[in-house]
Amino acid sequence: MGTKRSLSDQKGLVDLGAKHARTVKSGWTGPNERTFIAVKPDGVQRRLVGDIIRRFERKGFKLVAMKFLQASEEQLRQHYWDLREKPFYNGLVKYMSSGPVVAMVWQGLDVVKTSRKMLGETNPADSLPGTIRGDYCVEVGRNVIHGSDSVESAQREILLWFKQDELICWEECSEHWIYV
Ligand code: RTP
Ligand code: MG
Repeated sequence: MGTKRSLSDQKGLVDLGAKHARTVKSGWTGPNERTFIAVKPDGVQRRLVGDIIRRFERKGFKLVAMKFLQASEEQLRQHYWDLREKPFYNGLVKYMSSGPVVAMVWQGLDVVKTSRKMLGETNPADSLPGTIRGDYCVEVGRNVIHGSDSVESAQREILLWFKQDELICWEECSEHWIYV
């Protein structure tokens, strides 16, 4: 009896350990994949912040970090470095630095790919109704939200926008109703 109890206690400890590792350990794949999402200045001005956060929460993704800030042109030049040769680059940096943004990190299984689907296409005219850009905007230069386009971009962008200690590890009580 004593041995039996101690075995089940051990199993309990193992289960607890696995659960703890999954909820607390940060990483870049599986349920720990992370993406960088930003409500752009037009999204903030148009009071879309609450709706956008609600969509990510209801989907089942987990908020890891969030801040409200007006980013510098320098930061935005780094953020959009890959687009530096594009004719719209300077206008894009001006637009993105023209007012406050809500910068966020969301975590979950396939969060990078799924977030891009939730955002819609770059050009709102190509975005389906039901997506954020499909529902809330009409012009590519005012498309209300940013989302990382790959896991690698997400890593780079999260490092650019957040310090390590701003990424919060927390246990979500609904996790077992979202993941098997
Ligand atoms: P984002 O990075 O903001 O999530 O957008 P995206 O991946 O869908 O598109 P990307 O090619 O990375 O372009 C970044 C942002 O630049 C603006 N843009 N303007 N005038 C134009 O033709 C044009 N093309 C892109 C948009 O604000 C786009 O989101
Ligand atoms: Mg992009």
